[in-house]
Amino acid sequence: MIKIIYGKTAHDAGVNGADVITSVLKNKKNAVLGLATGSSPIGMYKELIARCASGEISFADVKSVNLDEYVGLSADHDQSYAYFMHDNLFNHVDIKEENTNLPNGLAKDPAAECARYDAVVASMGGVDIQVLGIGNNGHIGFNEPAAAFSKGTGLVDLTDSTIDANARFFASRDEVPTQALSMGVGQIMNADSILLLAMGKGKAEILEKSLFGDVTPAVPASILQFFKGDVYVCADEDALSVIMEKHPEAVSK
Ligand code: F6R
Repeated sequence: MIKIIYGKTAHDAGVNGADVITSVLKNKKNAVLGLATGSSPIGMYKELIARCASGEISFADVKSVNLDEYVGLSADHDQSYAYFMHDNLFNHVDIKEENTNLPNGLAKDPAAECARYDAVVASMGGVDIQVLGIGNNGHIGFNEPAAAFSKGTGLVDLTDSTIDANARFFASRDEVPTQALSMGVGQIMNADSILLLAMGKGKAEILEKSLFGDVTPAVPASILQFFKGDVYVCADEDALSVIMEKHPEAVSK
């Protein structure tokens, strides 16, 4: 079931997301978290860091698998997703480094790296909650609009729209990697529950289309309508603006 949880500001939506993760961790100390990067989860990670510091939650027994990594960036490149995760979460909580996992963007043989990462995800014995952002084009992970939904980890070509969107983090557009390794839609759908974070006006149209429009690989996030468990959508007022206009009954405040 899709549960749309309203936050007035991006900060409020991040706190709502942290509440969802907190209840998972309180129920299961050794939960497996599927994690995402990008601007959407940053506020939630800040809140989780504060809750860990206060002793409310602990990551000591948590394992994590991240959705994706850019091809060609090393873990110490400041725009790599490995760097992002350390900077925004791992370095500030009690998670053990050896319990954190990301695809290796420098792998010489991407197909072998995808197979290795599939095995890593499988070895977790199930992801308790998968955190997602949503791309302007409806991508989840780096699963771009396509003719079919992807199953396992794959090497993907980023679309122009994604490269444009991510250029804000790099010195110039030319520096944005054009490929990534990403968990597949099938793997994302295997999680026990999903937490989708969306902030800002730019996400309003695609969020409505994904959650209420046709289910199609042309809008990868639309598959979440078929998710077997709970999908928590924590979004701010701007990202929810189209949904609140067209489906006000679907939003819980
Ligand atoms: C990040 C990821 C992407 C982002 C999406 C939204 O690990 O997989 O799907 O979640 O591009 O990015 P932001 O949050 O920066 O708008």
